[in-house]
This record gives sequence, C-alpha cells and structure tokens, in this order.
Amino acid sequence: MKLFITGGAGFIGSNFIRYILKRYPDYQVVNFDKLTYAGNLDNLKDIENNSRYKFVRGDICDFKKVCEVLEKEKCDWIVNFAAESHVDRSILGAWSFAETDVIGTLSLLEAARKYKIKKYLQISTDEVYGDWEKGGYARETDCLRPSSPYSASKAGGDLMVLAYKRTYDLPILITRSSNNYGPYQYPEKIIPLFITNLLEGKKVPVYGDGGQIRDWLYVEDNCSGIDLVLHKGKIGEIYNIGANQKPEIINLELTKKIVQALGLGEDMIEYVKDRPGHDRRYAIDTAKIRALGWKPEVDFEKGLKLTIEWYKKNEWWWKKIKSGEYLKYYQEQYADRSLKGNNGTEVQRH
Ligand code: NAD
Ligand code: TYD
Repeated sequence: MKLFITGGAGFIGSNFIRYILKRYPDYQVVNFDKLTYAGNLDNLKDIENNSRYKFVRGDICDFKKVCEVLEKEKCDWIVNFAAESHVDRSILGAWSFAETDVIGTLSLLEAARKYKIKKYLQISTDEVYGDWEKGGYARETDCLRPSSPYSASKAGGDLMVLAYKRTYDLPILITRSSNNYGPYQYPEKIIPLFITNLLEGKKVPVYGDGGQIRDWLYVEDNCSGIDLVLHKGKIGEIYNIGANQKPEIINLELTKKIVQALGLGEDMIEYVKDRPGHDRRYAIDTAKIRALGWKPEVDFEKGLKLTIEWYKKNEWWWKKIKSGEYLKYYQEQYADRSLKGNNGTEVQRH
C-alpha cells in the first residue's frame, strides 16, 4: 500500500506519517508538502532516511505537479492534511486559506479522479460546525455554520469533497476532529504557545474572559482514529473524532493547569482583547467513530504532562521556530491586544 500524504511536514501530518510507518511495516508514504511557515522537516528527522518514506516539495494547488507525482509514484490512497490551519492568521488575511483549503482540495480531487485513486480521505475539523452553545453535540449530519475565514475555507473543502462523491462517485471519506495537541505542534496554537512562552519567562495571553470551551484530543488518538476511518470507514461517510472531555475544559482552566505544571504563578496570565468572531464552544458527537471501535487512549492530564515534557526536552525544535518570521507574526498578532493603558492600568476587560 502506498499513501500520498499531503501536509505531512506539519503537526498532525508528521505524527500520522510516523504512526503509519510504525504500524504497517509494508506501507510506503509519499509526503507532498509546500513547506509553508508551518511545514518543518525537523518534524520528521527521525524517519527521513527510512526507505519506505519519500518527501516531495510541492503545492496542492499546483495541479500539474500533483499529477506528475501521482503518475510517477502510483499511490493507492490520498490523505489530505495540507491546509492553512490557524484561525488568528485567517483573520489577518484569508486569501491563502481559500486557496489552499478550497482550491487545493479541488486540485487533489481532480487528480484523484484522473489517477483512479482508491480512497481519498479529507482531514477536516469540528470548527466547520461553528459555535455549539446549546450544551448539545454536533453530529456529522448537522449543517455547517463556520465562523472564521479558516473554518469557512475548511467547510468549502468538505463540500467540494462531498460533491465529488455525489457527482463522480469518487471514493471519499472525511474526518472532523476536535482541537489536537501534542509533540511538534507549531507554537502559535494555544497549548504550545503557552508552554513555550512560560519556558522563556514570558506571560501568556488569554483572549477575552477565557471562558471558551475546546475538546482537547491528544494527537496520537487522532492518528489512530484517522487510521481506523481510512481502513474501516464506510466510503462516502464523515466521522467526527473527539475526546469528549467531562467536565469540559475552559481556556482559563487549561491556562492555569499549564502555569501550575511549570511551577509558576497566575501573575503569568495576561488577559488580552478577544479574537473577533470567537467561537465560544466546540462539541461533537463521536458515537459514529466509537461504533467502529475507536476510543481515545490518552486522558487530558496525561496528554498535557507528556506534551509539557516534550517541549521541555525539545528546545532545539521550538527555539529555532520562535525567531525570525515568527517574531514578526507575534508582534502583529499580539501588539494591539493589550488591555493595559500607558500607566499599566487595565482599560478594557471582556
Ligand atoms: P499545520 O499548520 O501544522 O500543518 C499544515 C501543513 O500543510 C504544513 O506542513 C504546510 O507546509 C502544509 N501546507 C500548507 N499549504 C500547503 C499547500 N498549498 N500545499 C502543500 N502543503 C501545504 O496543520 P495541522 O495542525 O497539522 O493540521 C493538519 C490538518 O488537520 C489541517 O487540514 C487542519 O485543518 C486539520 N485539523 C487540525 C486541528 C488542530 O487542532 N491542529 C484540528 C482539526 C483539524
Ligand atoms: P487555537 O489553539 O488557536 O485553536 P482554535 O482557535 O482553532 O480552537 O485556540 C484555542 C483557544 O485558545 C481558542 O478559544 C482561542 C484561545 N487562545 C487564547 O486565548 N490565546 C492565544 O494566544 C491563542 C493562540 C488562543
């Protein structure tokens, strides 16, 4: 079996490639990645010389290049992780999100048709369902109500995938997971950002009142869910993947857990201006994938501990990232967010 994995140099994609090569000793992987700011070959250093692994640099929007590689490599399945993935960046500028997450998906679907790919799996997100305030859980059949340019782009990609099933009978699958965390996550997302800020002696910026809810899924649990859907999922179907933490964890509580785990005080927490359009709660119904035989193995306390340990041990990985371009992004993203006036007093609090 040969897999064409796109976006494999990012956070989840790199964890998934490592997972697949270990779990299936006869599988081969072609990792097709543009290496945007989020793509990092350091994520795959331990397997770069594996004879069953090959890296090709390319853009999924570049249909010709995608075809060239599929023609040459004769892959059986496509798993599409490639995306612009950060909500805050999509608020600063949405063009690249629509390009990669919608047009890039279209380009892969066309290539999948042309080369008669046997399975096409789209990696999507619970964010396509939007805010789920009602205390309920979004099911795969619920309608999409994305809030951010990121989630709207992902929803566009999903709809294109479903259209290719209906129109061309392309053998597709979709997974929609909740927020992932774990090793190799780019330090722009809340957990790695907060851990690394604190390790550097910097404060952590909590948006608004910190009362938002996310369902935290350890990345390896997402990998096992994707693996199961890829091998056992029913063609044409969508599967939610989430940990369904109980009680649910609000951002402020998560922040306090990280601060505490690093032996620091709550004076390291800074409340900053909220994200525009900020979704309050994500919550998904995961009965469908659980019925296939999946359940998460790593609870949040354990996963957070493993993640903090990993970032403590792997400064070589994130210190390189948190310089250069990253500093420019951080400045742009957080400079205007402070709620302090010039005399240091708080001027606004959500
Ligand atoms: P990431 O930002 O860490 O990695 C994205 C990868 O895609 C990078 O390696 C980047 O170089 C590559 N890429 C971007 N544009 C490309 C293009 N045009 N052509 C080829 N490669 C391109 O993202 P992630 O957190 O690993 O997320 C992977 C997928 O999972 C995304 O589709 C995302 O929407 C989805 N997802 C992520 C989460 C999460 O919590 N991180 C949750 C649910 C779903
Ligand atoms: P994030 O990791 O960006 O994931 P997403 O927006 O895709 O869920 O953010 C998770 C939550 O943390 C979200 O409610 C926004 C909040 N957040 C902060 O409070 N401060 C930050 O600096 C970041 C990056 C996120």
